[in-house]
Amino acid sequence: METHVILPGEIEVTDNPSIELRTCVGSCVAVAMYDHQVRIGGLAHIMLPQASDKKEKARPALYARSGIPLLLNKMIKSGASKDRIVAAVAGGSLILTDRKLGVELNIGRRNINIVQQVISSLGIPIVRQDTGGYFGRVLKLNLEDGLIDIREVKEKKQKDTESEIVGDIKLEDFKNRIDKLKPVPDIARMIISRIKYSGTSSYDLEKYIIKDPALTANVLKLCNSLDYGFQKQIHSIRRAGELLNPETFKNIVLDASGYNLYEDTINGYSLENKEMLNHSLCCAKVARLISQEKKINNPDVIFTAGLLHDIGKVILDQYFFEKFNLIMDKIINEDMQFIDAENEILGYNHAQVGEIVAMEWNLPGILVESISLHHQPEKTKGNPEVVSIIHIADCICSMIGYGGGANIVANQINRSAISCINLQSDDVDKIIEKLPEVLNLG
Ligand SMILES: [Fe+2]
Ligand SMILES: [Fe+2]
Repeated sequence: METHVILPGEIEVTDNPSIELRTCVGSCVAVAMYDHQVRIGGLAHIMLPQASDKKEKARPALYARSGIPLLLNKMIKSGASKDRIVAAVAGGSLILTDRKLGVELNIGRRNINIVQQVISSLGIPIVRQDTGGYFGRVLKLNLEDGLIDIREVKEKKQKDTESEIVGDIKLEDFKNRIDKLKPVPDIARMIISRIKYSGTSSYDLEKYIIKDPALTANVLKLCNSLDYGFQKQIHSIRRAGELLNPETFKNIVLDASGYNLYEDTINGYSLENKEMLNHSLCCAKVARLISQEKKINNPDVIFTAGLLHDIGKVILDQYFFEKFNLIMDKIINEDMQFIDAENEILGYNHAQVGEIVAMEWNLPGILVESISLHHQPEKTKGNPEVVSIIHIADCICSMIGYGGGANIVANQINRSAISCINLQSDDVDKIIEKLPEVLNLG
């Protein structure tokens, strides 16, 4: 059976019996429809209740008010009959709730209310509903028989056995073994071709570099090396482009693009289908949005921190992609969080690996901290606001389905991170409302 994953703001309708439609929702709502007679089914991943007519027209599938009628129309166009179609609804969790702080993300509840109103106004019976609560859910629709499986992704179970370390490389060995990260081939290739044009500016290059965490890390590493003798460490690609003369900058970027490496294929360890790349970009964009919303400087640095927070996963991919399946197995079958599955399979996790490499490369402390502590923001000493923003942005990405493939658990946001940046319910609403525009992931 082939699985089609429906991402936020996507709709798919099919009559292919060998397909399973699947989506993971937190505060978003999955709406499945099925006609048992003709075996046509569809699934929508609804992100927000409603928006202005203009926004709904531009991206109807993102919103309940426009997306559900669109799903129904697609079903009917494919040959389903409105009289026979039934619906199932899952999601709408209150994931960001922390009652003690009085912070509640009510987007889940609002989503559910509108979804129910719209479905009932269309006259479609809801035969299965699993909504609310504090966990993410996975909804699967089997096209062969219309069977709908809704599974809560619960908190991890405690393991009572000692972790077995089966990693081939010791954590401390990463320092010596990692020379250069492999950038994403498409982006590296595009950058190399742009560098050849004399008219390409540093600003033009920045636009491409910041789409690739590995490349961003490589460029920052080179800029912060002793060769350039900067008094202060460089925190963002924009700053590097401003400080270096254009030719030097181009040379650094060319070197960082690793033109003799980029032809190697990268697969496994969550990089498949660009999920990891999209997760990093999503986190960077959401983090910048939070910093702008909360007026916390500097958005460029925060963007870089978001882009690099999971750089340890990119590194592990280059050594352990064959172990990725074992890690995924733990996550899916034992409801384990990614970082715990890594600890069990490898003996360490991506945040630790990221920290070691970030330090070895002389990346600025603010980036080292956000890489090493993005899953434990309460431990932060130097840059609590930045690490808290990255942690929150990371959770929001998982919540809306940009969790990098593996982070299917809809995380509860750490309380200390919420209070650190004084995140209020209104702020979270504003951030979520802006996501459709911000998440124009390339
Ligand atoms: Fe992470
Ligand atoms: Fe992440």
